[in-house]
Amino acid sequence: MPERTPYLAANWKMHKTVAEAGEFVDALLPRIAATQSDVVICPPTTALSAVVERRYGTAVKVAAQNMHEEDSGAFTGEVSASMLVELDVEAVVLGHSERRQLFGETDEALARKVPAALAAGLEPILCVGESEEARDAEQTDAVLERQLRADLAAVVGTKLAEVVIAYEPIWAIGTGRTATPEQAQEACAFIRGLVGAIDADAAAAVRILYGGSVKPANAAELFGLDDVDGGLVDGLGRLPQTHVQHGLLRERLRARRRRAPAAAGRRCAAPCPAAQAGC
Ligand code: PGA
Repeated sequence: MPERTPYLAANWKMHKTVAEAGEFVDALLPRIAATQSDVVICPPTTALSAVVERRYGTAVKVAAQNMHEEDSGAFTGEVSASMLVELDVEAVVLGHSERRQLFGETDEALARKVPAALAAGLEPILCVGESEEARDAEQTDAVLERQLRADLAAVVGTKLAEVVIAYEPIWAIGTGRTATPEQAQEACAFIRGLVGAIDADAAAAVRILYGGSVKPANAAELFGLDDVDGGLVDGLGRLPQTHVQHGLLRERLRARRRRAPAAAGRRCAAPCPAAQAGC
């Protein structure tokens, strides 16, 4: 099985001016000099360039929070994949539940956005997740399957591994309620299985993230789960030190698992790099 590089993405949503974004990145960069994780910052569109300029020569990648599926046209307020690539942006969040719920993002549009991003050389971070009603009605798997089948319909098997999939239960986003490790693992394993039904190699390689009220107290356990390769996190994105500590922690968990696969638990070993953050 390929070793999947941990992936930590900070979705800033509609937070941070250009000046605030610059300050954040200046404080973050020295702290992640040693990380081998993919550390991805998703600033608002206005701050993309400020973050891109600061992160040259570092491990940080920059992602937009949305894009239009067409390359150009009469689409007021939208930006295209090629416009993001021109800014040296490397990735794009697609299908976040806030866009689905508040801005009418449809699976039909996503089915065009994901391949458009890939064709332009952007790494899509595709968000999927169920509502509380769907979970209560035991429809979680059905929702995830419907979303993934629709959104990835036009992505050929070998390209699937280039998509990052974020499992974000809607009821956990910004609510302080986090999925239990069992719920997160079950959903992410189910997602990996869906990818595997299309392409086994892609399933082994695809990065699957958990997002939804990840906090210092639960990040270690969530990021240590077998099928969770990192997180899409709002809150941690505003806490550079904690964010980085969890990237390093994930690397340690991986290393520990490699050393002692049978004995490796899901909790962090001492000395834990996130200990000061409350893990
Ligand atoms: P949260 O947001 O960390 O505030 O739950 C995650 C997200 O919206 O991606």
